[in-house]
Amino acid sequence: MDKYKEIAQHIKEKGYVVAFTGAGISVDSGIPAFRGGQGLWEKYDPMEYAHISSFKRNPEKVWVMLREMAEVIFNSSPSPAHLTLGELEKKGFLKAVITQNVDGLHQLAGNTNVIEYHGNHRWLVCINCSKRVPFEPEVIKITPYPRCERCDEALKPDVVFFGEGIPMREMIRAHDEVSRCKVMFVIGTSGVVYPAADIPYQAKSKGALIVEINIDSTPFTHSITDYFLQGTASEILPNILKYLE
Ligand code: OAD
Repeated sequence: MDKYKEIAQHIKEKGYVVAFTGAGISVDSGIPAFRGGQGLWEKYDPMEYAHISSFKRNPEKVWVMLREMAEVIFNSSPSPAHLTLGELEKKGFLKAVITQNVDGLHQLAGNTNVIEYHGNHRWLVCINCSKRVPFEPEVIKITPYPRCERCDEALKPDVVFFGEGIPMREMIRAHDEVSRCKVMFVIGTSGVVYPAADIPYQAKSKGALIVEINIDSTPFTHSITDYFLQGTASEILPNILKYLE
């Protein structure tokens, strides 16, 4: 429990808190993580299903997985962990969320400064003309795959596939938040996908305190983490809030 007291003290003294989140924070929302157990990448080979060249070669095949993902996302709602991050922003402690998740749950939980490093699955984008439209739940029923109304090419969720770059605007926003950050919560991420995984290292090198929340250790834990809080994000985050009040 002393750990929580110390972390709360650091937050009160240092101020600017940024959360860096991964799939683990959405597990309690009913969205399985990518790696291990029920993970999507245990069922689908990411190089076959999540690489942009695979999508361009065979959108019909990749849409089988995308439909499954969309159904899970549309049926999800914010977990106690998401809601706590919303509360932490309202109370003035949390200034930004940099997320690798594409489910849009941070915004639904009330966070207003959310940087979606890997895009958002609730939007569709045309692979030819880049027209962007909301991903309405009815689209799931369209077979073999949805097409752009402007140019008739395949639509894909507006998420970053392997082989694609991070959107420039999000990279710049993340860089800006990292340079202001004094305490970074690193929540529910395996820390193996780059360039996203570099963000906590950048924060640490600029002097931020790293508070990691995960059920297991990660490459961050024994290198840059100052406080490792082991457990689910939905158990741990409300405790941090309690100690701040
Ligand atoms: P991973 O599936 O790689 O890792 C999930 C992490 O969450 C692991 O470290 C788990 O131990 C942890 N975890 C699981 N349940 C948890 C819980 N209830 N509370 C806290 N932690 C929990 O997911 P990411 O690190 O987000 O990229 O994956 C990074 C990127 O890989 C994703 O954004 C996606 C994927 O390929 C793209 O699609 C571009």
